[in-house]
Amino acid sequence: MDPKQRIEQLKQLIRQHNHAYFVLDNPTISDVEYDQLIQELTLLELRYPEYVTSDSPTQMVGDSISPSFSKVEHSTPMLSLSNAFNAEELNAFAERLNKNKFSVTYVVEPKIDGLAATLRYRNGLLVLGATRGNGLVGEDITDNIKVIESVPLQLSQPVDIEVRGEIFMSKSAFAKLNQKRLEIGEPLFKNPRNAAAGTMRGLNVEVVASRGLQMFVYAIAELDEDASMTHNQVLTYLKSLGFNVNDQTKLAEDIDSAIIHAEYFEQQRTTYPYDIDGAVIKVNERHLYGQIGYTAKSPKWAIAYKFKAEEAISRIHAIEYQVGRTGQITPVAHLTPVFIQGSTVAKATLHNADYIADKDIRVDDDVIIRKAGDIIPEVVSVILKNRAPNTQPTGFIQTCPICDTPLHRIDSEVDYYCMNPACSGKTVEGLIHFASRQAMNIDGLGDKIIRQWYALDYLKTIPDIYTLHQHKDTLTAQPGFGEKSIEKILQAIEASKTNSLELLLFGLGIRYVGQKVAKVLAVHFNTLFDIIQATREALIDVPEIGDKIADSIIASANNPVFINTIETLQKYGVNMTYQNAQTQSTTVAGLTFVLTGTLPNLSRQQAKAMIEAAGGKVTSTVSTKTSYLCAGDAAGSKLKQAEKLKIPIIDEQQLKALLDRK
Ligand code: IVH
Repeated sequence: MDPKQRIEQLKQLIRQHNHAYFVLDNPTISDVEYDQLIQELTLLELRYPEYVTSDSPTQMVGDSISPSFSKVEHSTPMLSLSNAFNAEELNAFAERLNKNKFSVTYVVEPKIDGLAATLRYRNGLLVLGATRGNGLVGEDITDNIKVIESVPLQLSQPVDIEVRGEIFMSKSAFAKLNQKRLEIGEPLFKNPRNAAAGTMRGLNVEVVASRGLQMFVYAIAELDEDASMTHNQVLTYLKSLGFNVNDQTKLAEDIDSAIIHAEYFEQQRTTYPYDIDGAVIKVNERHLYGQIGYTAKSPKWAIAYKFKAEEAISRIHAIEYQVGRTGQITPVAHLTPVFIQGSTVAKATLHNADYIADKDIRVDDDVIIRKAGDIIPEVVSVILKNRAPNTQPTGFIQTCPICDTPLHRIDSEVDYYCMNPACSGKTVEGLIHFASRQAMNIDGLGDKIIRQWYALDYLKTIPDIYTLHQHKDTLTAQPGFGEKSIEKILQAIEASKTNSLELLLFGLGIRYVGQKVAKVLAVHFNTLFDIIQATREALIDVPEIGDKIADSIIASANNPVFINTIETLQKYGVNMTYQNAQTQSTTVAGLTFVLTGTLPNLSRQQAKAMIEAAGGKVTSTVSTKTSYLCAGDAAGSKLKQAEKLKIPIIDEQQLKALLDRK
């Protein structure tokens, strides 16, 4: 069967199984068979990226909901919260408020582990229920929300109001649901959050109604509305309207007592009838919210205290040493798969040689695993009492696992490096980095293809990327490739030649030159040749460039392989200058701007007012119609979207310069 047909067939099959599983509650194949279908589709889509469609089951992740729900633009963005992991970070949160002379009290609420939703009422009647989606646009799930018992269809007063809260499944409803599924041989949900999300994703309201979901409401969407009420008064008001408001909520006079309440929630977490994954500490004085302000993603007047990560016990079967693009060696433990916080973990980082030695971590040891920062699994400690008598201390490898060159430890650093410039492990990782989305953004040239073409000798160095078109016929003849997919990659390679300097500079992988430093250097020096010819003094003169970065740039500039790489890239027509956003347009009138992240000096409102005064427009979503994205610190998805769409990205200084131009 031709791949396109098979992809269509797989999509169709998976959709049917999703429907059977999520909606009819009646799956017709086992989880393993289902996973195999997903895997086959994923692999085919990797090979034939031209057949990937946005409605493919492989493209729908996280909180996204099936395309059968229509989209709703939120009246005000549904923000998330910044996290604190200990009392120190909570004190720092209070200190920031204090420093800015805000005199505040706090409300502490349990952080419910479910899915966020917004409810709109007109004249006291529920007219819309929607998911968070990407924070700006969510999905209309009104029908499903209407059957949640604790969501009032009619309020006690005929008000127009939009409220925000969390839909969740109680632990007992979850246990009952899984028990039932077990009895009738249906796949089990992993946890209550998953069950709640899976249920809301379904299209059959009767199923939703039967699952006993609940909702706690914790805010009014419109922040400026009636700021005369404190947050605590808002909660009382919401309760009086008929909403289900969490009764564990506590008022705290100062941060110390807020921390005590948060820690109390943590200590009590297992006793609540629903899962909580933290505590939310909010400033009580809502009239200050506007002044305290917002970052791109979250309010500065609230913070989530995340409970300590769950830990699990597993056994190390082997230690693998991975080689990064800089030659850095990372030891990774292979484990008996174990379930922690929503996913199965089979590998965990051991960080470096000192970490292994300090904790005396050995193969065959039972160890405690935790998700560091809740994401990357790490080995925390060894359970010594379980250690078998015949285990051996782990001797860190002495030579590179790929090229066998003796490893080096640089100065006072903890990591070992493979210093062989020709190490194929490093080279391949370097190629993958160069083509990656944050660097040259060569769509379709992903790690699998790079590894394959490296092995076949088509791709040995970075400049080789720009000679791949010479092998078009042989590449097309490779099993798994077609003319179209190769053509698409070659086009993406060609397009990357016009990228602005900072992307190339970051892609070249000079040590310590990350995305931000690359941008600073590109803006300051304008061309790659000016950067590599700069003296140490000239480099250090640039704000944000210190000794370490300067020395690293100079080392690269003195490296004949590096110089040869950039000379060859230049010969192939790769752009080496900074595409200054200012040169691309002459007037601001009629241009559309999007603001994201925290700008160093201007507030969002100020920047918006300045742009509008100059005749420009400010919108909240990045699209092909956006003229510039003005990005500050902690910019997130908008920055990514702008990079993807190749929208010029400017900083506050450039924005000001642009606005100053007559
Ligand atoms: S307030 C602008 N309060 O946590 C602040 N959020 O990371 C909006 N959540 O998306 C959130 N319990 O889904 C708030 N008592 C609570 C919460 C809560 C759970 C979730 C919510 C939000 C996420 C923030």
